[in-house]
Amino acid sequence: MRALTWHGKHDVRMETVPDPQIVNPRDAIIRITSTAICGSDLHLYDSYIPSMMPGDILGHEFMGEVVETGPGSTLQKGQKVVVPFVIACGKCFFCEKQQFSACDNSNPAEKQDLSEAAYGYAMSGLFGYSHLTGGYAGGQAEYVRVPYSDVGPIVVPDGIEDEQVLFLSDILPTGWMAAENAEIEPGDTVAVWGCGPVGLFAIQSCFVMGAERVIAIDHYPHRLELARQMGAEVINYHDVKVREALREMTGGIGPDACIDAVGLEAHGFALDNIMDAVKTATRMGTDRQHVLREVILACRKGGRVSVPGVYGGIGDKLPIGAFMQKGLTMKTGQTHVQKYHRQLLDMILDGRFDTTFLISHRLPLEDAPKGYKLFKEEQNECTKVVLKPDWTKGAAAQ
Ligand SMILES: NC(=O)c1ccc[n+]([C@@H]2O[C@H](COP(=O)([O-])OP(=O)(O)OC[C@H]3O[C@@H](n4cnc5c(N)ncnc54)[C@H](O)[C@@H]3O)[C@@H](O)[C@H]2O)c1
Ligand SMILES: [Zn+2]
Ligand SMILES: [Zn+2]
Repeated sequence: MRALTWHGKHDVRMETVPDPQIVNPRDAIIRITSTAICGSDLHLYDSYIPSMMPGDILGHEFMGEVVETGPGSTLQKGQKVVVPFVIACGKCFFCEKQQFSACDNSNPAEKQDLSEAAYGYAMSGLFGYSHLTGGYAGGQAEYVRVPYSDVGPIVVPDGIEDEQVLFLSDILPTGWMAAENAEIEPGDTVAVWGCGPVGLFAIQSCFVMGAERVIAIDHYPHRLELARQMGAEVINYHDVKVREALREMTGGIGPDACIDAVGLEAHGFALDNIMDAVKTATRMGTDRQHVLREVILACRKGGRVSVPGVYGGIGDKLPIGAFMQKGLTMKTGQTHVQKYHRQLLDMILDGRFDTTFLISHRLPLEDAPKGYKLFKEEQNECTKVVLKPDWTKGAAAQ
């Protein structure tokens, strides 16, 4: 089959690789019909996440048709399914608590030492996201093997277009969990850093949960405009000092909750941005944590900080004094997709969430390397790339 493989920094290639096979009874094989590129994929593209190996198949946002099932799968051939990016067994201590991204069984034993050394305990498995998370082949491909297919995939009702539901695989539940972790109360003012897909879905989710005001921060005019169209007030961090602006906009109090939907590749020209850039470039540091620092400093006393943005390593200059002295709460994590996707499917079907507005580019899978370059270099206009394995090369709609 054809698949997108990783070969190093900014080097991804379409290659012919062996077709996936059923390995375990609960597996299913899915023929991919739509797959998307995520901000998290850019961290791999930019080589920020360790333990990638040349030839690894990328992709964790995908959906398609069931073409083969193991004897323990509950899926049936021909069903259309969206697959969560988190691989979870559904039966361990963590899955029973609905903390699916902490699943203790989905990261194969021979891979667990890697994340145990880095994080104290082994991570769950994720599709297409390095050997720290199991080394699973991803779904930017024609076919993918889905382990625990009786737990993760959600069957899509007939008559629904791929693009309406594709983002149930990751970014919609991620925006939703970000808002839930920010413990929104009716009347709250919430500030959201980053107007990429995750930030935009977090903004929508905050409003659905009853936030009165959402203030969105980015520097891309088009992305800020999308946030504005959802009802957010906006701050362009190139034009104003973010913390000062937030203080002014909230009557000197600060936002009730702050969401970091940027993660470890924060941009900007503040002193700590520059120090982070030097440290990561010289391999003296791993993550550029400017936004994490800013959310802690900007949040009101007694407020809540939610961090869907991905961090991978060890950081410094974290204002831990401000965090403690102001009595903040912080919640974070890879999304427990399986906890939220059914409820969110219902909300898409009854019109409370529109997801298709986000897609700026649709390309054949064969053009995936071009898609990565666009999503990396043209972030203003390129808000989300969807890849279609069925389309022939060069058949892009836009
Ligand atoms: N927790 C999870 O399970 C999960 C799932 C999906 C994505 N993520 C993470 O969420 C983050 C966002 O994902 P995305 O797909 O929206 O990515 P993206 O790269 O499309 O968007 C990031 C946005 O942050 C903005 N930004 C950069 N520096 C900023 C700053 N200093 N202040 C304000 N905005 C700034 C960028 O301009 C960009 O618009 C990434 O770190 C991604 O890895 C986490
Ligand atoms: Zn993703
Ligand atoms: Zn589990």
